[in-house]
Amino acid sequence: MNARKTLTALFLALPLAAAALLDAPDARGDATADKALEAAVKRGAALWKKSWRRGAKGCFACHTRGPNKMTGRRVAAYPKYDKALGKVVSAPQKINNMIKTKSGGKMLELGSDDMNALVAYMKTLK
Ligand code: HEC
Repeated sequence: MNARKTLTALFLALPLAAAALLDAPDARGDATADKALEAAVKRGAALWKKSWRRGAKGCFACHTRGPNKMTGRRVAAYPKYDKALGKVVSAPQKINNMIKTKSGGKMLELGSDDMNALVAYMKTLK
């Protein structure tokens, strides 16, 4: 390889090497994202199973089988019109209505870690 070819090769290789280096933080970022989402799903699973009030049913009790079996698809269908609420609502709004009316619990703040965790878990249901 003559000097000119070597230089050209270097010229071409440098941006690739730089891009690979710049990519590295992204890979770390993905691991962080995966871990965070995993933790949220775990937290959501606990909320799904918990009893919101003594003597009241938790979400899983009514949504594990039968016509109301919960799936990620059902969650993804929101926002949609809700008969009970008489308007178009988001999944968290519908969930809050369920917490209050069916599970006898205290509604979660929209955008709270708990609400996001519950939605994240429900989206994993098949
Ligand atoms: C006592 C039974 C019962 C409990 C407990 C209950 N649900 Fe429901 N849920 C229903 C019924 C019945 C429907 C269908 C009628 C309706 O939409 O109001 C429904 C509908 C829903 C829907 C809408 C599904 C769709 O396809 O649009 C969501 C989301 C939901 N529930 C979430 C929850 C969550 C989250 C909890 C726990 C906090 C919960 N539910 C607790 C009975 C229950």
